[in-house]
Amino acid sequence: MKGIILAGGSGTRLYPLTVAVSKQLLPVYDKPMIYYPLSTLMLAGIREILIITTPHDQTAFKNLLGDGSALGCKFEYAIQEHPNGLAEAFIIGADFIGTDSVALILGDNIFYGSGLSKMLQDHTQIEGGAIFAYRVKDPNRYGVVEFDSDGTVLSIEEKPQVPKSKYAIPGLYFFDNRVVDFAKEVEPSDRGEVEITSIQNKYLELGELKVGIMNRGMTWFDTGTIDSLNEATDFVKAIEHRQQYKIGCIEEVALLMNYISTKKVQAIASNYGKSAYGNYLKTLVE
Ligand code: TTP
Repeated sequence: MKGIILAGGSGTRLYPLTVAVSKQLLPVYDKPMIYYPLSTLMLAGIREILIITTPHDQTAFKNLLGDGSALGCKFEYAIQEHPNGLAEAFIIGADFIGTDSVALILGDNIFYGSGLSKMLQDHTQIEGGAIFAYRVKDPNRYGVVEFDSDGTVLSIEEKPQVPKSKYAIPGLYFFDNRVVDFAKEVEPSDRGEVEITSIQNKYLELGELKVGIMNRGMTWFDTGTIDSLNEATDFVKAIEHRQQYKIGCIEEVALLMNYISTKKVQAIASNYGKSAYGNYLKTLVE
C-alpha cells in the first residue's frame, strides 16, 4: 500500500499564521504538524509516501523531510496548484499509486490512542474502501455518516447544515486501486471542490465501503482552527509530560517498525543539538 499526505490547502482559518507558512509546518507543541500524520502512515507499515503541497511550500517540506531515507522510507513530492478538493490527491498521485492500494491522510489530522497501530495495519490489505466515524460536537464541519440502528451506513454528506448524526469522518481513508478512476469521474461540488465524500459514496453504492467507529479510546484532532490547534498542542504537551513518551516522533516510529537502526537515530539526535526533541532521541538509543 502507498501513502499520500495532503498538505496543501490555504489555511485561511489560521490567518495571519499561514500567510507565509504552510499550516502543516506550524508547531503542534514540539514538532511540525506534518510529523503526526506522517507517523500515522509509518505506523500502518507504509513506507512509500507522496507529500502533496502548494507550489510555494514544496521546498520547505523537502528541507524538512528529504527523500525519506533517514527514516528508512521513500518520500516523493507533488504539487497541487489550487486547493481543488481532497479527492484531487488521487488524480495528482495517480502515477505514484500505480497499481497499488492507497491510504490518504490529511496533513492537519492527528490520531492518538491505544490500538491505533493494529487498527491501521488491519487496513493495508484493503478491497473496497475503509473510512472511520468519530463522535464530535460540531459534525457540520466535516463529512458526516448516518447509521441505522443496526449500524448500517445510510448516507454520507459533506459539511451538512443539518447533520443527520454526530459522527464525523476523520481525514484518514483507505482505498483499493479503483479510487484513481473514481476520482477522475468526480464532478466538482457547488463549492467548486472535488469532494472525498463523492468517492466514499461511490464505494457505498457498490456496497464496498467499511466504516469503522473510532471509539472514545482514540483521540482525533484536526488542527485547522486556532482553538483546535491550541487544544492539540495542550493535549500533546500533557501526554508527553505525564508519560515521558512522545507522540508523532517519526524517528521513534521508524526505529519501532525496524525501518532504521539505532545508529541512524543517534546521527539524527546529534544534529538536533540541545533541543528536548534531540535529547529524547538520545534516550531512545540508550
Ligand atoms: P481544510 O482545513 O478543509 O482547508 P485549508 O487547509 O485550506 O484551510 P482553511 O479552511 O482554513 O482555508 O483542509 C484540510 C486538509 O487538507 C489540510 O491539511 C489542507 C489539505 N487540503 C489540501 O491539501 N488540498 C485541498 O484542496 C484541500 C481542500 C485541503
